Order: sequence, then C-alpha cells, then structure tokens
Amino acid sequence: MTPVSPGPDATEGRGRVAVVIGGANGIGAATARLMAARGWRVALADCDAAAGGALAAALAAPFFALDVTDRAAVAALPARVEAALGPAAALVVSAGAFQRNLRVEEEDPAELDRILAVNVKGTWCANRAFGPGMARRRAGSIVNLASTAASLATPLSIYGPSKSAIVGMTRSFAGEWGRAGVRVNAVSPGITLVERVRARLRSEPGRYGADPAQTTALGRLVAPEEVAEAIAFLCSDRASAITGIDLTVDCGWGVSAGWAMYGGVRPPPA
Ligand SMILES: NC(=O)c1ccc[n+]([C@@H]2O[C@H](COP(=O)([O-])OP(=O)(O)OC[C@H]3O[C@@H](n4cnc5c(N)ncnc54)[C@H](O)[C@@H]3O)[C@@H](O)[C@H]2O)c1
Repeated sequence: MTPVSPGPDATEGRGRVAVVIGGANGIGAATARLMAARGWRVALADCDAAAGGALAAALAAPFFALDVTDRAAVAALPARVEAALGPAAALVVSAGAFQRNLRVEEEDPAELDRILAVNVKGTWCANRAFGPGMARRRAGSIVNLASTAASLATPLSIYGPSKSAIVGMTRSFAGEWGRAGVRVNAVSPGITLVERVRARLRSEPGRYGADPAQTTALGRLVAPEEVAEAIAFLCSDRASAITGIDLTVDCGWGVSAGWAMYGGVRPPPA
C-alpha cells in the first residue's frame, strides 16, 4: 500500500534541496520562505541581486545571480547548487517578463523577443538544465509558473501565449521524465498581489478596470502565499501521483468569465 504522507509540517522537505529561479521577489520569494519553513534547503537564483541577496541572508540560503536568458549560466546552475547544498530535488521556475496593456498596433515588436526569451526560452532551458539530473537520480519535482492568461482571453497577446507555451512544455517534460520518477507541473495564478502588481495598481489604475477584485468569483485577488502553497504542495510527496497538470490559483477569475453574460457571479444569499 502507498504510505500516507503526514501532511505539511516543518519536516516535509526532509532537508532536500529546492531551487527557486525568480526567487528574489513576489511569488518566488513567498515560495522560498514557505518551503524553507517546511524543511527544504532552499537555493535562490534571480537577476535581482539586491532583493535576492537580502532574502537569502534572511533564510540562510545561497543566492546565485542568474539571468534566465543566459543559456550557459542556466546550464551551469545545477552544478553550482550541488556544490553549495547538494543535488536539487525540486525546481520552481518563477522568473517572468510581463507586458503592458496596449493596443497591438501600439506594441513594440521587440517585446516579442524580450518576453519570449524569459518566459518560454528561459523556462525551457531551466527545465533542460535540472530535469536530466533528477531523472538520473530517479526523483524530482519541477513547478513552472504559467498564468490564467494562458487559458483566458486577455489583452496580453504576447504574455498570454508565452504562458500557454509553458503549459505545453510542462506536459512534454512530464512525459519525458515521468518514468524516471520526475514530476513536472505548472501553476497558473490569477492576478496576485505581489509588490510589482500593487505598484501597477497604484500607478496604472486603468490597467485592470475599475475594481479587478470584482472580476473573480471570490471577489478578491490572490495573495502570493496562496500561490506558494500550491507550488509547495506540488513539490512535496503529497502530490506524488500528480504530473503534467496546470493548477489554477486565481480566486475564480476564470469561472467568472462565463458568468459575466448573465450579470456576473451570484451575490451571497441574504
Ligand atoms: N503576480 C501575478 O499577478 C501573476 C499572475 C500570473 C502569473 N504570474 C507568474 O508568476 C511568476 C512570478 O511573478 P511575480 O508576480 O512573483 O513577479 P515578480 O516581478 O514579483 O517576481 C519575478 C522575479 O523574476 C525575476 N526575473 C525576471 N526576469 C528574470 C531573468 N531574466 N532572469 C532571472 N530572474 C528574472 C525578477 O527579478 C523577480 O525577482 C511569473 O512567471 C509570472 O508570469 C504572476
């Protein structure tokens, strides 16, 4: 019989090594904090050395300055992590490039290269760097950050498809390394109140409409810690039978789209 996991606690990570690329800020930083608290030995990699260094110091974790568009540097990361902490048992790819809400004809085509380089190529290269080693060790879990924008229609005509590509490659990698004991999943957040998004809500009030919280079934936006919880679950042995999925964490943003034609999601009963 399959042993039953005791559930999330301070020993869940069992001292295994988790690498968080894009771990200096936002969802990646929340994930690093949560997984460190659950007994993983966390390594951070990010191009933001100031924030990454500060969080790494707080967690007593190693920090690696990394630009995911630098293929040689991404390929070299597993060996650097292994030298510092040991081989990686979990990888979270949270580095992301974002897009403004513009008319397509106002968008600079150079944005195609910038956004696809980070989101599509960077995520692919990070999986290629860590997956084969996990497969040789017959154990590992990878979580790639996609987005609700991968499946919903949004004005983000580069960012959305870049996230669809991440969902697609996640399914490919799940088949690639599944028989070797490596699980590969995606997590798709809805609008999540990381500092970057909070700043945009203040500086670009028109970006999301009058009250973006009203576009979700739950009537609020997502907290970074709620996305981290889903990521930590998928990394853990509690998700031992789950691979190749895209787990949505969006407060029901996707749900409410179909309800809009009927006047919006139902208010609570009196
Ligand atoms: N916050 C949201 O509303 C939201 C919604 C859906 C999906 N996501 C996805 O979640 C992930 C994390 O987003 P976030 O909101 O926490 O953003 P964030 O800006 O707070 O954090 C992203 C991190 O990635 C790092 N990064 C960016 N480009 C990099 C590069 N080239 N190399 C290395 N590191 C790089 C940044 O320095 C930063 O630390 C992204 O993939 C994003 O697309 C976020």
